Amino acid sequence: MQVFHHIQTLREALAAERKAGKRIGFVPTMGNLHDAHIELVKIAQRNCDVVVTSIFVNPLQFGLNEDWDKYPRTLAADSAKLEAAGCDYLFCPNDKEIYPNGMAEQTRVIVPTMTDVLCGASRPGHFEGVTTVVTKLFNIVQPDEAVFGIKDFQQLAVIRRMVEDLCIPIKIVAGEIVREADGLAMSSRNGFITADERPRVAQLNRSLNWIKQEIVQGRRDFNGLIEAAKEQIMEAGFKVDYVNICNSRTLEMAAHDDTEITILGAMYTQGARLIDNVSVVLG
Ligand code: PAF
Repeated sequence: MQVFHHIQTLREALAAERKAGKRIGFVPTMGNLHDAHIELVKIAQRNCDVVVTSIFVNPLQFGLNEDWDKYPRTLAADSAKLEAAGCDYLFCPNDKEIYPNGMAEQTRVIVPTMTDVLCGASRPGHFEGVTTVVTKLFNIVQPDEAVFGIKDFQQLAVIRRMVEDLCIPIKIVAGEIVREADGLAMSSRNGFITADERPRVAQLNRSLNWIKQEIVQGRRDFNGLIEAAKEQIMEAGFKVDYVNICNSRTLEMAAHDDTEITILGAMYTQGARLIDNVSVVLG
């Protein structure tokens, strides 16, 4: 695996691959890689000739009181995992390489409306940071395909919308959520879960699945389902950020006759904010 810290040298290497007719796959990450990230690399490998993974803990998508400074940076271990997975290129720039004019002066990319709800409501500016850095990374790598995890369901929807709206010629591919045995979705932030909380954190997933089963069985009192799920999560000892039942494509509150529904939730543990979602397609 070749490792690049600079845009120019990565571009030169990828230009040669493109000239040789190679299809380029891209997996953008913030590092601290786990099995779910490696699954994204494998998906990219299936569809492409060469795969680029980026590791950049993007300061622009973290709020002032968020965990940018304590976000785990594990480049040596990440690099070994990517090498073992057969990734071809690793791009790990520093802040100056990505934001040479400083973050305040950085041109922004904004996807309106669908970024104001769910995670966007509790993390103002977060998605603006994501869409801005992803656009930059897309322009640097210029991949044919880019793979994003479904665990960040809203992020995936926002990026799909951005690519559509800005006519970006990149196919966006979704990677399934990878879960621990008890249902906890794999996340780089799971390392912040305390030993005491660990047996209880899968309640978020259990409650979202409970809503899904109730909907499959015909219940449509969405507000009642949401409130009951919030109670379950609070009883397990966690502060709820949100639980919502949404139209899978628009992320608006689901209508009773919607057939593609995603149930999304976020909760706070002592040291982390965890998110999860489950989708259902009704016949
Ligand atoms: O999902 C992530 O890890 C980040 O939001 C991303 C897409 C790499 C942008 O920084």
